[in-house]
Amino acid sequence: MGYNRENFRRIRQEYETKYLDARAEAEARRGELHARFPEVAEIDAAMHELGVTLLRTAVGGGPDAQAKLAALREQNEALQAARAAFLTGKGYPADYSEVHYACEKCGDTGYVDTKMCDCMKRALTAAGFASSGLGHLLQTQSFENFSLDYYRRVPEQFAAMQRNYDILYRYAHEFTAGQCRNIALFGGTGLGKTHLSTAVARVVIERGYDVCYTTAIDLIGDYEFDRFKGGREDSADTLAHYADCDLLIIDDLGTEVVNQFTVSVIYNLINTRLNCGRSTMISTNHSPKELRERYWDRITSRIFGEYQVLVFSGTDVRAQKLRQ
Ligand SMILES: Nc1ncnc2c1ncn2[C@@H]1O[C@H](COP(=O)(O)OP(=O)(O)OP(=O)(O)O)[C@@H](O)[C@H]1O
Ligand SMILES: [Mg+2]
Ligand SMILES: [Zn+2]
Repeated sequence: MGYNRENFRRIRQEYETKYLDARAEAEARRGELHARFPEVAEIDAAMHELGVTLLRTAVGGGPDAQAKLAALREQNEALQAARAAFLTGKGYPADYSEVHYACEKCGDTGYVDTKMCDCMKRALTAAGFASSGLGHLLQTQSFENFSLDYYRRVPEQFAAMQRNYDILYRYAHEFTAGQCRNIALFGGTGLGKTHLSTAVARVVIERGYDVCYTTAIDLIGDYEFDRFKGGREDSADTLAHYADCDLLIIDDLGTEVVNQFTVSVIYNLINTRLNCGRSTMISTNHSPKELRERYWDRITSRIFGEYQVLVFSGTDVRAQKLRQ
């Protein structure tokens, strides 16, 4: 599905406004010049007249059309030069009444030919960060600042973490919508599960996909709120995003209260996404065994059957950092 639909709609609208505003502002500056300087109004009227003649000559053709056109163009250039000289003489920039787009490349349309302009991609990425639910984590957690040094003490742990890093790095950089590649991160507290989940999210958003990050507790909270409110539109949007986004990241699975409601919410979400071919990443600091004990077989068999399991090991990096 690609970019978040709501963000896309809003940003298209912002571009349309930006484009029209830029043109209206230029028109207002032209009006201001005409009001202040009749000379400019005269030049503009002459240029308009010239434009009409140019067009008529070009369409009409005739034996000496080319020569006429060249002469008209020359006159036009002379008028433009006179206008620019007049304006700079009065302390105005020569292009004062030109349209000034925020992006010269696409003229604030968001597209260059049929390709999306980089400025619009950047706007969508920023909006994707904002709507991902990751907030401040995105500023501090990336692949670049994830260090494998923290796992060096035990060679097997180091090798396992290097492999996890490589798999997640590739996962993020090769992510495509609808591929349905699911990953479950297991491991004790402070070992970098959330950090690498954020790193994956950032790359996948930058590559133009719709990512939604949530903790299991917040997820359940949203479903409870929706049930409590009787399916109001504001919460329905959030729930739809959990189901529809290209990549859903459910962090800290197993910290929520386990009861029939929560288990059925998580089961249905995981199952729906599997059936629709949408990718999901989960992480938990329970062991696979604990997770089995905690949830019904229905959930754990889905997870262990359809998810690539990555086990994080090492010494709590949070604690290691505090000691540094
Ligand atoms: N390899 C690493 N390099 C740099 N910083 C790290 C690394 N691993 C973890 N951190 C940092 O340590 C802190 C804890 O990591 P993180 O939150 O990812 O752990 P976690 O596995 O999600 O733990 P929990 O199970 O408690 O949620 C974070 O601030 C994170 O940025
Ligand atoms: Mg975490
Ligand atoms: Zn642009």
